[in-house]
Amino acid sequence: MNYYQITGGRPLGGALVVQGAKNSVLPILAATLLAPGECVIHNCPNLSDVNTTLEILRFLGCQVHREGGTVIIDATAPQRWDIPDQLVREMRSSVVFLGALLTRMGGAQLCCPGGCQLGPRPIDIHISALRRLGAEIREESDGLRCRAEEMSGREIFLRLPSVGATENVMLCACGCQGTTTIVGAAREPEIVDLQNFLCAMGASISGAGSSVITIEGGHPFHPVEHTVMGDRIAAATYLCAAAATKGEVTLNGVDPNHLTAVLDVLREGGCHIEAEKKAVHCTMGRSLQGVAPIHTAPYPGFPTDAQPLLLAALSAGRGNTMLVEHMFDSRYRYIDELRRMGANIQVYGRVAVVNGGKLRGCRAEGSDLRGGAALVVAALAAQGESEVSGLQYIHRGYEDLARDMERLGGTIKTRIS
Ligand code: EPU
Repeated sequence: MNYYQITGGRPLGGALVVQGAKNSVLPILAATLLAPGECVIHNCPNLSDVNTTLEILRFLGCQVHREGGTVIIDATAPQRWDIPDQLVREMRSSVVFLGALLTRMGGAQLCCPGGCQLGPRPIDIHISALRRLGAEIREESDGLRCRAEEMSGREIFLRLPSVGATENVMLCACGCQGTTTIVGAAREPEIVDLQNFLCAMGASISGAGSSVITIEGGHPFHPVEHTVMGDRIAAATYLCAAAATKGEVTLNGVDPNHLTAVLDVLREGGCHIEAEKKAVHCTMGRSLQGVAPIHTAPYPGFPTDAQPLLLAALSAGRGNTMLVEHMFDSRYRYIDELRRMGANIQVYGRVAVVNGGKLRGCRAEGSDLRGGAALVVAALAAQGESEVSGLQYIHRGYEDLARDMERLGGTIKTRIS
């Protein structure tokens, strides 16, 4: 079992170019299916979820090449619309292939998607929205069988601003005749990146970034070159690590406007933050202070994905903070591991109350992507040595967290055992 060996208690310091965004590149890669020909995607992070997505595209009959951070997908002749269970179960975002396959192939077949265990993650909103566009979807014991029958644009109301459902409807509505309006759409920057990509390919979409998105379907697609936006959650990880270790970091390649909620909390906790067009500079001269209650919420609210990272930093700081997790039922599993480092955190259902204090290094095991990264943040702040395992989860969303933390001055090595 591989693990990170981390010697904590030293301030981070340095600069880094943040990787391309996982949650942006995954739907964009699925969207390359729409255009016959070769799409070129730059700033594509090397992640296990990206590799799974590329495997799916290969299985469907696309030619896929990777040259460093650039991936070339030739979707001239995809041949099938079914995705093997083992690839679908690897990651939740395989569900966005539904919309892309319905548009390109007229059908889709896949089992229920997997992903990190954060509590129940139903796909009812995806299914009912695609049905409203005319897809015939049969839910069978071994998965979903979908056919694009008489697809036409409609008004779609999403009962929750689901990121994945918004992406699926955008992808599917591109193939429908007429106008689709998504009301109650997710507003995440990754949705804007997908809109930019689809529009460059020939689609007519407007409104991404707001809660109403309009798609005029039926336009022909052509392949394009696209550069994926910087990863705001990876950036939040390094910022929380800087705050936890009383460090000073500069992050390039990320838009500070995508981080407003996180930067506001860090400022309140005592960080000095300077935002430029595509960079953030964070200096922390003292312990991170407790802040007013935080509620996770859909964008532009405080991101659920940054919740574990911030709690880890606050547990190494001073004072109390209350955090309420509204997005997922089981996103506090990493807290038991943080407690083993000495963190003082009480959990009452969705509410966590953290009391800052001194952390000490220990062995800890991550059991999901952001929870695992939170243990790394805590270990960098803790006195002494830690061993953090569960790297297979961390690699779903970080190219190489040890390399990046080392570039920022952390003492962290990957050990293979
Ligand atoms: N939901 C439903 N029914 C649905 C879809 C969603 O009830 O059909 C609920 C979910 O159970 C959850 C809430 O709606 O409580 C939000 O889920 P959403 O669909 O927005 O999440 P997602 O698309 O599955 C994406 C990110 C997650 C991130 C969430 C929330 C990707 C690939 N994943 O997931 O990222 O936490 O949005 O912002 O975009 C991560 O990167 O660590 C990660 C988990």
